[in-house]
Amino acid sequence: MSALLHVDRLSIQASGRRLVSNVSFSIAPGERVGLIGESGSGKSLTALASIGLLPDGMKAEGSILLDGREVVGVADRHLAPLRGTVVATVFQEPLTALDPLMTIGNQIAEVLRRRARRDGRRLDRKTVTAEVMTLLDRVALPDPNRMINAWPHEISGGQRQRAAIAMALACRPRLLIADEPTTALDVTTQAEIIKLLHALVTESEMALLFISHDLPVVAQAVDRVLVMKQGELVEEGAVRTVFQQPRHPYSQSLLTAARTFDQALGSVL
Ligand SMILES: Nc1ncnc2c1ncn2[C@@H]1O[C@H](COP(=O)(O)OP(=O)(O)OP(=O)(O)O)[C@@H](O)[C@H]1O
Ligand SMILES: [Mg+2]
Repeated sequence: MSALLHVDRLSIQASGRRLVSNVSFSIAPGERVGLIGESGSGKSLTALASIGLLPDGMKAEGSILLDGREVVGVADRHLAPLRGTVVATVFQEPLTALDPLMTIGNQIAEVLRRRARRDGRRLDRKTVTAEVMTLLDRVALPDPNRMINAWPHEISGGQRQRAAIAMALACRPRLLIADEPTTALDVTTQAEIIKLLHALVTESEMALLFISHDLPVVAQAVDRVLVMKQGELVEEGAVRTVFQQPRHPYSQSLLTAARTFDQALGSVL
């Protein structure tokens, strides 16, 4: 089966500084992959490059095939159609994904209509409302009748993240990229959102690229992990293998740190 995302010797530079070096990996359709590594190791830049959204002034080299189509060096107008059909994203701060001047229901409806237009379909108002309600229910937002009319500032951080996930799902992407989607949330809400992502990805056969610097968090949601350090990919393997027999000293230290933290909390990894 050909890869949904195929990153081949990706390097990213900004004003002469190499921020990502020679990174290669693939994600197959339906596969759940974690990208972990310390802060500043290049995880977000790798994800942004994968959807052709690097910040101005940054230059990518190498090749990135998204559903077989080259992303590196391609003009934005050619990439825009891929976003929201092949790939959708959920970021750390859901407020950046949500429009403060639009109700939650209207924002999700807008994505549904856009997706339908791209498929050459038109949705009538009743169908849109029914689909919005279904999505609110799928992301387990309580009281969908209130949520559909709520403004982003009227709901909690965890609820906003669920709404942002509902918007991503409305695109029916084949690959979901979630960059630190739970860092801004408390531990209980974090666990709920990860459980939700896990369930949604499994039931809709989406592929997932889950980014975090927290290995135990990632381990709950993915099958395979990639470990980055200072812009390079230093280890790759099944979650179980990387957890139980990390090869690279950096993965070993990440794991030791995670265990120590976990033991301090009174539980065992
Ligand atoms: N817009 C930018 N301009 C210049 N350098 C940047 C920019 N964005 C990121 N960098 C640098 O690129 C490197 C990689 O950043 P990146 O955001 O990918 O890290 P990360 O692994 O996602 O970290 P975190 O876990 O903190 O989110 C860092 O050294 C960072 O300072
Ligand atoms: Mg980041």
